[in-house]
Amino acid sequence: MKPHDYIAREDRFGAHNYHPLPVVLQRGEGPYVWDVEGTRYYDFLSAYSAVNQGHSHPRIVGALVDQARTLALTSRAFYNDQLGAMEEALATRFGYDKVLAMNSGAEAVETALKLARRWAYDVKGVPDNQALILVASQNFHGRTSTIVSFSSDPDSYGGFGPAMPGFQIIPYDDLAALDAALANPNVAAFLVEPIQGEAGVYVPTEGYISGAAARCKAANVLFMADEIQTGIGRTGAWLATCGACSCSGGRCERDPQTYVRADVLILGKALSGGVYPISAVLADDSVMLTIKPGQHGSTFGGNPVAARVAQVALDVVEDEQLMQRARRQGEHFRATLRRELGSHPLVGTVRGRGLLNAVVIHSPADSHVAWDLCLAMAAEGVLAKPTHGNIIRFAPPLVLTDAELDDALDRIVRSVKKFRVS
Ligand SMILES: Cc1ncc(COP(=O)(O)O)c(C=O)c1O
Repeated sequence: MKPHDYIAREDRFGAHNYHPLPVVLQRGEGPYVWDVEGTRYYDFLSAYSAVNQGHSHPRIVGALVDQARTLALTSRAFYNDQLGAMEEALATRFGYDKVLAMNSGAEAVETALKLARRWAYDVKGVPDNQALILVASQNFHGRTSTIVSFSSDPDSYGGFGPAMPGFQIIPYDDLAALDAALANPNVAAFLVEPIQGEAGVYVPTEGYISGAAARCKAANVLFMADEIQTGIGRTGAWLATCGACSCSGGRCERDPQTYVRADVLILGKALSGGVYPISAVLADDSVMLTIKPGQHGSTFGGNPVAARVAQVALDVVEDEQLMQRARRQGEHFRATLRRELGSHPLVGTVRGRGLLNAVVIHSPADSHVAWDLCLAMAAEGVLAKPTHGNIIRFAPPLVLTDAELDDALDRIVRSVKKFRVS
């Protein structure tokens, strides 16, 4: 079969809920993927930052295979010997009392929303059914009907109403707007991405996230950080909320100047090691224990394979010092693109943190220029995709060597310089 045959088959038998770049991938290793014709590409999307540890990392795949052979699924009707170990690893590393494991990112966000409401009624004393959760404009927290209810992107919410009530959208990166919203005593929580990935890698003003957390604390409101895309090393630290920590040793150092502690921390994507879905919500007992047996869960959530994989996925990030590498390589990535392409008529802002970066292409958001540029980069052996309209995100696996990063940068720069708008 040729690439177009695979594409035609997906088009014919699959739902049309994505618009993939026309490459058909067959194999992956480290920062590379190969298509069905054997062409090699640098993967600069990393499955939306779920493959931080690189494709098919041998330690992670080894754990997956071994655990699948030993015990794969028990449901939570029984204990298993891996879940507690994973919960302990996450709780100790990030400094929380408890962990609740789910599968997808959206499920973890749903879990956080349910926790916020229960906490509001049981602990804060908000009147029944009055709890309000604040979210930021341009947010992306997943695709369930509740989550799209508070999206500001018509592609996400349009045609899927009626919307779930109990949410208020406030402008991102705007502490005055947060202050005004927090005046309502029924506010249970503020759910926010420390960097807005899907919206186009928007890095908020320094002090926004710490200021927001402090304001929530003062107002007795839960500060809930969605680190599904930004967490697990991607932005050059374990978490984007970690601040300037140097990530040494097995625990967060929690630099008091820069560290922001969310009341509810939401993880997903790279917790999977890029091989087996797992997401998790972390919180202290006062929040987590508001949910009682039978009130929330998932058949696959916390299964032994996911639990074992997640432990090794964390170990790989630590042992290979991937967050330090992401921080250093991210500086180099942005500096190189600014130097080489800063005066190019098509290239606007280059922004990001660690290895979560974006380039804004000077073209109308509804034009095909960013898409066509991604096709041109694919022809040079680098896969990336526009996030929204004219913004291209660059998020390679964190296992690139410096030489590989330079090679990929050469290819990106070359593609842009050769590119002609059609
Ligand atoms: C910040 C954020 N939250 C939630 C999600 C949803 O995760 P999932 O696609 O695993 O449901 C995503 C996915 O892109 C995300 O970036």
